[in-house]
Amino acid sequence: MEKFVINGGTELHGTVNISGAKNAAVAIIPAAILCNGICTIENIPTSISDVTMMLRILESVGAKLRLIDKNTIEIDSTAVNSDFVCYEYTKHLRASYYLLGALLGRFSSARVAMPGGCDLGVRPIDQHIKGFEALGATVKIEENAIVNAKAEELTGGHVYLDVVSVGATINIMLAAVCANGKTIIENAAREPHIVDLANFLNTMGADIRGAGTDVIKIRGVEELHGCQYSIIPDQIEAGTYMLAAAATNGDVIINNVIPKHLESISTKLLECGVTVEEYDECIRVCGNGRVSRCNIKTMPHPGFPTDMQPQMAVLLSVAKGTSIISEGIWENRYRYVDQLMRMGASIKVDGKLAVIEGVDHLNGAPVRADDLRAGAAMIIAGLMANGTTEIEDILHIDRGYEYVVEKLTGLGADIKRIETPDPVRISNAG
Ligand code: EPU
Repeated sequence: MEKFVINGGTELHGTVNISGAKNAAVAIIPAAILCNGICTIENIPTSISDVTMMLRILESVGAKLRLIDKNTIEIDSTAVNSDFVCYEYTKHLRASYYLLGALLGRFSSARVAMPGGCDLGVRPIDQHIKGFEALGATVKIEENAIVNAKAEELTGGHVYLDVVSVGATINIMLAAVCANGKTIIENAAREPHIVDLANFLNTMGADIRGAGTDVIKIRGVEELHGCQYSIIPDQIEAGTYMLAAAATNGDVIINNVIPKHLESISTKLLECGVTVEEYDECIRVCGNGRVSRCNIKTMPHPGFPTDMQPQMAVLLSVAKGTSIISEGIWENRYRYVDQLMRMGASIKVDGKLAVIEGVDHLNGAPVRADDLRAGAAMIIAGLMANGTTEIEDILHIDRGYEYVVEKLTGLGADIKRIETPDPVRISNAG
């Protein structure tokens, strides 16, 4: 077991390089098995556990992997021979369900156990199933929560998503690229990683148009070929460092980003009185003392991302005045509030709303990372608090933030990863 120990109160200064996008990588890696060839994928955040687990899943179905350099992997899918992924693999990450679309696209058959991932409330997959069925597949949930999707032949179809779902949009794209005929996804998600996946598939020879809008049109092609591709920078990792810079009243250049992807975050920081300067591939965030209050409503892209909501709440916990957050995507994304209140924050949660009365400062405390972004929020809270904060359950943070200690230390933060003894087990022998 490991934890982070942070001595807070240091302003962050310097430059930080952003890694490849986790949520793009976990879609693009399984997409590589749609071709019967070799894909070389660059800018993969290879050291985060969601990515290493996704790579292991690929090996389990027969793909051969070769690490070319620290962030480049060659995926050879010629020997992929299994349509089955068991719960031992899928329990570790939500994105394991992309094997459903990818294997269905490759073999017209997929048997994949229901996924794990962050506990953000009920996470149904009805829209994924609706999409597969529109392509002519039969989908059953079998013993041991195995999702079994099968088709004689996948044929293009028309799908209207009842809710804007990133996962369903991606899964339907994966299943449809080699289907017979044309597929239209309406009310599709527009997140940057949807566009990145479409660009990757098109580089492999697919015919996808409209990614980044709410109507995606896919003309099925006979087959895909191998390719070389570089994953976009991580929008949420970049946003997290922007917030860390603002929260510590620092001055940080966040490098290797696509500023357009960060507009909803930049706009809110500006509203709070933080200086944000945009350049071609970097963004500079500079604190100007205590921030002003603001309201946030999380929405699908291009709205304010739910994956930045906990980090923003930390900043607003010390703002001048009262801020209101409205969570529009997940029903259970306020679990971090208890932890933040242990550090002195004043927050009342009522259903989807959180009302935050800005306090003067936070105090260090022992806290927990309840999920990935809650963990990121605890890091920011620890960096700006007076005294020492110890964060437990950091395995959640390791799922999505590459070299977080090294990157923050490079900006002057006092943060260490330390081993903690396993909890004492009481034997009942005798
Ligand atoms: N939904 C349904 N039915 C479905 C699918 C989704 O009702 O079949 C609902 C969900 O319950 C939720 C909403 O639709 O209320 C949006 O869910 P979506 O499917 O878009 O989420 P996801 O694909 O499971 C991805 C990211 C999440 C991020 C959300 C929203 C990946 C691997 N995960 O999840 O990222 O919060 O989109 O932007 O891309 C994270 O990185 O920390 C994370 C949780």
